[in-house]
Amino acid sequence: MHPRTLKHNPVSQEVETLAGKYDHDPKALLEILQEIQHSEGYLTPERIAEVGRSLRIPQHQVQGIATFYTMLNTAPQAGNTLRICDSPACWLRGAAELREYAENTLGSNWTVTRNSCLGLCDRAPAALVNNEQWGPLNRLGLDSLLATAGTHSPNPDYTDPRPGEVRVMLANAGKIDPTSLESALTFGAYRALAMALGKGESTALPVSPKTIIKTVETAGIRGRGGAGFPVGRKWSFVAAEARTPKYVVCNADESEPLVFKDRVLMETNPQQLLEGMALAAYAVGAEEGFIYIRGEYEDQAQLLENAIAQAENSGYLGENILDSDFSFHVHVHRGAGAYICGEESALLESLEGKRGEPRMRPPYPVTSGYLGQPTVVNNVESLAMVPHIVLNGADWYRGLGNPHAPGTKIYTLLGHVKHPGLFEAPLGLTLREVIEHFGGGMQHGSEFQFALTGGAAGTIVPSDLLDVPIDYDSQKKGVSLGAGAFLICDKTVSPVALLRELLHFFEVESCGKCTPCRVGTREAREILDRLAAGEGKPEDYVHLAHLAETLEKTSFCGLGQSAAWPIKSAFVHFRPAFG
Ligand SMILES: Cc1cc2nc3c(=O)[nH]c(=O)nc-3n(C[C@H](O)[C@H](O)[C@H](O)COP(=O)(O)O)c2cc1C
Ligand code: SF4
Ligand code: FES
Repeated sequence: MHPRTLKHNPVSQEVETLAGKYDHDPKALLEILQEIQHSEGYLTPERIAEVGRSLRIPQHQVQGIATFYTMLNTAPQAGNTLRICDSPACWLRGAAELREYAENTLGSNWTVTRNSCLGLCDRAPAALVNNEQWGPLNRLGLDSLLATAGTHSPNPDYTDPRPGEVRVMLANAGKIDPTSLESALTFGAYRALAMALGKGESTALPVSPKTIIKTVETAGIRGRGGAGFPVGRKWSFVAAEARTPKYVVCNADESEPLVFKDRVLMETNPQQLLEGMALAAYAVGAEEGFIYIRGEYEDQAQLLENAIAQAENSGYLGENILDSDFSFHVHVHRGAGAYICGEESALLESLEGKRGEPRMRPPYPVTSGYLGQPTVVNNVESLAMVPHIVLNGADWYRGLGNPHAPGTKIYTLLGHVKHPGLFEAPLGLTLREVIEHFGGGMQHGSEFQFALTGGAAGTIVPSDLLDVPIDYDSQKKGVSLGAGAFLICDKTVSPVALLRELLHFFEVESCGKCTPCRVGTREAREILDRLAAGEGKPEDYVHLAHLAETLEKTSFCGLGQSAAWPIKSAFVHFRPAFG
C-alpha cells in the first residue's frame, strides 16, 4: 500500500497514480481535476474528496476549485456539449436565437450552454463543440453538426495584409508553418536570441541583459494586455530583485470580449512568442517560464507545446541555450474558463493551483509574483514584439508609430463594417481611419451610430469622436484603446441593449470576492434588462449612475472598476436612452 494512503479512507489507485504523476504537488490541482474530468466526464464528490486526501489539502479547497472554473463540471453532462458564445460580436450576429434553436433542436444527447467570449469573434457566432472551436455557426451548420461533430471549421486566413497595414509581428502570418521550427527558422526565428547570446552569424560578443532592458525601455513599448505599463520598466524592476528564482509568465488568457489577436499570434507564429519569452528571461535573470493559456484555446496550446518541444530539441530553449550559460524552460498551463484569470494576480493564483481570485496589490508581481518570487507578467503581443526590437533597435521601433505612442499594434475590428477581421498598424489611428481605411467603410445600407472601443471594458463612442487619435492617453478624451478592439455598430443597435449584454458579461464573470462587483454588476444588469425591454422606472438612471460610481471607486480589482466605463460613456453620449 502506498505510504500516503489512509487505511480507513483509501484513495483509489487511479487518483493516486494521477497525483503521483504530479509529485502530489497541490499546484497541479487544476491539471489533476482536468485530467479526471477528461477521462470520467465530470468530477464526483468522491473524486473531489480523494484528490484532497491524496494532495493533503482540505476537501473544501478542491471543491472550491471544481466549482470556480466554468470548464470543470461537478454534475454529469450529456454525451455532447455545445457552448455558444453570447458576448457582443456573437450577440450581434444572432447567437441568442441560435442557442434557442439549438436547445429546441438538438436531442437529449447534447448539453447546450451559453459561454462568454471564446476569442473566436472573427468567426461569430462562435461555439465550442465538444471543446472544439467552431464558427461561424448558423442554423444550417447546427443541423449538419449532428452528422459531422468532431470536424473543425476553417479559420480566417490573415496571410495577406490590408492596404495600409504595417506588419511586424504578423509579417509572416500564413507563410510560416506553425508546426515546424525549421519553417520558422527560414523566416528569421531566434536570430535576436542568438545575437543576444553572442551566437549570431557575426562573432559579436553577447549583449548584456542590462543592454537588452535599456533597448526595450528606450523603444518605449507599452504592455498590450490593456493597462499599457512600459515593458522595459517592468523588466528593470524584476532584474533589480536579488531574490531567485525569478519567473516569466506569458498572459495568454485572452478572454476580453472582441479580442482575439493573441490567438492569431500564437497560431500563426508560436516560435516568435517563445523567443520573446526567452529574451525576457535572459534580461531579468529567469530560468523558468509559463504560458497561461485559456482552456478554450486547446488547439493553440497544442501548437505551443509542439513548438516548445522542437525548440528544446534544437537547443533554442531548455538547458544551455545555443551552448551558452543561459537556460530557460517553458511550460504551457491551461486555464479552465474564467475571465478574471486574465487579471495578472488572479492568473498567478490560478497558476499556483488556487481559485483565480485577485490578490491585494501592492506587492506587485515584479517583487512578489509566482510563488511569491519576482515575476514578469506580459501579454502575448508585448512579448511577440520583443525579438524585433532587440534585432532592429529602439530607434527602428520608435520610427514605426507616432512619437507619443510608438510601435505597431494588432487591432481587431468587428460589427457593421465591410471587412471585419484583424490587422497590424501603428498606434494613434482614429476611428474614422479604422472604419474607412481598414474596414472598407460601413456595410452597404448601414449608417454609423457608435463604436465600442477597447473591449467590453471599454468606451461607447459616438460619431463626434471619430477623429480622436487612439492611444494609451485617449481614454481621457472618451475613446479607450484597451486591448485594441473595435465593435462598429450601425443605427439598428440599441446602446442600452448592448450595455445590457456587457453588464451580463461582467456579472457572470465577477469572481464574487468583493460585494460592489458581485452585487453591483447584477443590479446594473437588472436595471438594463428593464430599460432594454422598455419597462424602465423613473429612478433607474440615478440608480445606475450610482452603481457605476460605486463599481469604479470601490471594486477590489480592474474587472469591477472597468465595468463602469461603458456605462459612464453611454450616459455621456446617449443620455436620453436611459429615461
Ligand atoms: C479583468 C481583467 C482581465 C484581464 N485580462 C487580460 C488578458 O486576458 N490578457 C492580458 O494580457 N492581460 C489582461 N489583463 C491585464 C493584466 O492584468 C496585466 O496588466 C497584463 O497581463 C500585463 O501584461 P502587459 O504589460 O504586457 O500588457 C486583464 C486585467 C483585468 C483587470
Ligand atoms: S472586482 Fe469583481 S472580479 Fe475583482 S475581486 Fe471584486 S468581485 Fe472579483
Ligand atoms: S467569440 Fe463571441 S464575442 Fe468573441
